[in-house]
Amino acid sequence: MTAQEQQPGSPARGALQLVAVERTGHVATVTIQRPDKLNALNPAVLGELTAAFHDLLAQGSEVRAAVLTGAGKAFVAGADIAEMAAMNSIAAKRFAEAGHRLADLIETAPFPVIAAVNGFALGGGCELALACDFIYAAEGAKLGQPEVNLGVIPGFGGTQRLLRRVGPGRARELIYSGDMITAEQALAIGLVNAVFPAAELLARAREAALKIASRGPLAVAAAKRVLLRGESLDLTAANELEAQAFAALFGSEDQQLGMKAFLAKSQATFTGK
Ligand code: COA
Repeated sequence: MTAQEQQPGSPARGALQLVAVERTGHVATVTIQRPDKLNALNPAVLGELTAAFHDLLAQGSEVRAAVLTGAGKAFVAGADIAEMAAMNSIAAKRFAEAGHRLADLIETAPFPVIAAVNGFALGGGCELALACDFIYAAEGAKLGQPEVNLGVIPGFGGTQRLLRRVGPGRARELIYSGDMITAEQALAIGLVNAVFPAAELLARAREAALKIASRGPLAVAAAKRVLLRGESLDLTAANELEAQAFAALFGSEDQQLGMKAFLAKSQATFTGK
């Protein structure tokens, strides 16, 4: 099947081969496993990632936080250039849409997703990390949007999410230059939240996920929704959205449990109801 004929990013059927999903308690870890190609995103990987996140979504409040990482020396070294080289505009549009669908799925999931950037996060890899709620990176990781080196631009949401994450000046500089930056430089511009020794990265990301998973899941989901939607609204409308979401949590089991536990000087065990 040629790249033009494929339906990229359609959810994979059957067992996953290019993506591993593991769940411990309420925290899931999703690992992209195509290390021989530095986890480059081809339609099969996009499809499996999409299927993996659909499956996590189907588990409801059992999944309260996730970590997304890559096997080997890369997080994701980009969309698959070998596959893209053969694409015409129609296939490229479908490929971009599949990337957008996956990014939207992660961005709108009711549980936070932390990108644990273990190595190269370039092009579609940086865009995938940007679709996550925040990014932790390993020392030695490199991030960037090198698409202009290939005669194209970011196609999985990078122009918009990088702009929103690091601001217009930094986003323009990175996208126009195609330069890779170090994890430390990414930290300095707010693209990543923290940098850890490579050996500690996954544990630190899971630790953060575990903490989030111990909080009220309905509240975390509402915060994620309001933070995301509010970004594209004016302040008045965004604050109204916040007030509505705040009010809607009252009467939930989680709100009752959380407040009662505080008043009883104990720790709430949230139900997600
Ligand atoms: N698409 C397809 N294949 C890719 C890839 C991508 N984005 N990135 C890496 N690979 C493949 C390489 O072709 C190579 O395959 P091969 O062993 O069959 O030749 C394999 O992954 C290992 O990569 P290699 O280039 O040998 O590793 P390196 O350590 O020397 O260099 C990078 C690492 C990340 C600097 C380099 O692979 C690179 O520049 N990749 C492309 C980055 C990019 O432009 N991404 C944006 C795409 S829109």
